Amino acid sequence: MTTAQEHVSAPDFPLHRGCPFAPPEKAVEFRDSGAPHRVQIWNGSTPWLITRHDQIRQVLSATDRFAADVTLPGFPNTSDAQPFVEGGIFFRKDGDEHLPVRRILNPDFTAKRSEALRPRMAELTDKLIDDLLTMPRPVDLIEHFALALPTVVICEVLGVPYEERHAVHESSKKLVQLELPQEEKHAAHEAMFATIGEHMQRKRSEPDNGLLSRLVNTHVDERGELTFQEAVGLGVLVIGAGHETTANMIGLGILALIREPGQREILLSDPAKYAPSCVEEMMRYWSMVQTEPRRVCVQDTEVGGVLIRAGEGIICNLPAANRDPEVFIEAEQLDITRVERKHIGFGFGVHQCLGQNLSRVEMQVAWPRLFQRIPDLRLAVEESELRFHNKALTYGLEELPVTW
Ligand code: HEM
Repeated sequence: MTTAQEHVSAPDFPLHRGCPFAPPEKAVEFRDSGAPHRVQIWNGSTPWLITRHDQIRQVLSATDRFAADVTLPGFPNTSDAQPFVEGGIFFRKDGDEHLPVRRILNPDFTAKRSEALRPRMAELTDKLIDDLLTMPRPVDLIEHFALALPTVVICEVLGVPYEERHAVHESSKKLVQLELPQEEKHAAHEAMFATIGEHMQRKRSEPDNGLLSRLVNTHVDERGELTFQEAVGLGVLVIGAGHETTANMIGLGILALIREPGQREILLSDPAKYAPSCVEEMMRYWSMVQTEPRRVCVQDTEVGGVLIRAGEGIICNLPAANRDPEVFIEAEQLDITRVERKHIGFGFGVHQCLGQNLSRVEMQVAWPRLFQRIPDLRLAVEESELRFHNKALTYGLEELPVTW
């Protein structure tokens, strides 16, 4: 077995991507070596990067050995602000501090509930496309489509008025930037708390079917399971986790379908049949959550021949794992007819994504509809001019200028 001391060379994390359509080369090299390797993060600490599909599943399943608690010593934080910003939120907790809260949220995000939103999503998508068609070209599809759809959908799920979407988006965008100064993160966090707090307060006298209303009226006031502040924190989390992620995926998926006309033709030949597998394949291919999941080891454990000691941090690299050649045939190829559904783009284990059903339906609706209505959609710039944000928690496009 290898010990920690033998792994001394630790590249800076987030890792550099040489090709925007592939995982970072170092992550692939580490994966192919078969063992976890150390990387160096912003504060000089050197957590382990796990890159193999089987090892990530091992780590994320062993909740007694690898904790999600962001306040524990050795947790590989994204900034000094992280324990303050996220320390009290269930998704950075374990066991009894995680599961009961997850159970409170689950009913709003079941496959059935998300499926029921499909007609409304189709309506919103069509409305956005109607607007696109009136705009002067080129149009930035990130701002006017990819971001607009999930923002409206998550605001509707929560019961936040549509007019608030810009403020909501600006604050939450800051929270996922890894390099933003700490004071700005604190300010964005407080602004978001204040906005959601006001809405939640109002839901006491004006209840509706949204999640914020249910949280405050049922889980705070009726059952006393949450404090008001905890409920506000959940609303903030759902907003933060719920639109930037899906927006990046919608943008990246459009780009992939523009680049690969053969895949686009398959999708459009029978959207009802291919949209679900297209979504799973895009999730695998892009794996846009690129700096998570993170954990801290709480009991010495061997992973891939390396002894990981209690107190050492872990970062899972989903992009490398979802192209693991031991799991996926022709892993580098985008193939929307692929039948293996083993990707871990939504995570794995008890912390697996709460909003995955909602995101799936949004993508299933958005991609076919866009290309059906604008068949000649194409890039308005050279592909090499596209700018990707590589340093954020989620990978994605800064803009997607298109024309038709
Ligand atoms: C394409 C879109 C999305 C991707 C790729 C994605 C990815 C992920 C991943 C990888 C995790 C696991 C994190 C970990 O284990 O530490 C996660 C957890 C989570 N996601 Fe998503 N997500 C997406 C959309 C959403 C949406 C729409 C919501 C809104 C409800 C959401 C809410 C959450 C929450 C609350 C958690 C924490 C769950 C827990 O700890 O129990 N996500 N997501």
